[in-house]
Amino acid sequence: MGRLDRLMANGAWLLTHLEALVLYHPYGLSDHSAMQLVSSPPFPSGPKPFKFFNAWTLEESFLPAVREAWAMNINGSAMFRLANKLKTLKVVLKKWSRGVVGPMQDNIQQLRRSLEAAQESLQRDPLNSTLISRETRERILYKSLLSREVSMIRHKSRQN
Ligand SMILES: *[C@@H]1O[C@H](CO)[C@@H](O)[C@H](O)[C@H]1NC(C)=O
Ligand SMILES: *[C@@H]1O[C@H](CO)[C@@H](O)[C@H](O)[C@H]1NC(C)=O
Repeated sequence: MGRLDRLMANGAWLLTHLEALVLYHPYGLSDHSAMQLVSSPPFPSGPKPFKFFNAWTLEESFLPAVREAWAMNINGSAMFRLANKLKTLKVVLKKWSRGVVGPMQDNIQQLRRSLEAAQESLQRDPLNSTLISRETRERILYKSLLSREVSMIRHKSRQN
């Protein structure tokens, strides 16, 4: 695994592309790993439209967040209660997604680094069973989080 996989961006670009992230694809059997830069346009001014990501439902903390929002005691007609619960749910999910999905992108970078470290150790000592299982574990972790992220991005690009 080479050390050439770096992308550079200047501060101005980063500030206007806060949602940009770099995806590294697992190298599989190749000695090269594909990189993908996912950028998005600068944030529009004004309130951001609410977007729901299917991948949210895979998060452990998703259902408790929904339940909490839905359990709110609101009085009024059925229509009024429904409208208010939906509004509450929207606010709760916006908050929840900032707390969960943001760190997920950091976790991907972190897991990628752990995977690289595990693979480098394994390359130095290819028959070590401890290192073999460590590499396998790191690869599964990395791939599962990556696929969650990718499904979110697909969902997002369909909506844009
Ligand atoms: C809804 O109505 C019930 C009974 O009329 C009352 O006890 C409760 O405090 C009300 N809840 C809210 C949020 O207004
Ligand atoms: C395998 O690698 C680990 C971590 O580097 C090391 O602690 C352990 O002694 C190695 N096992 C063998 C059998 O070489």
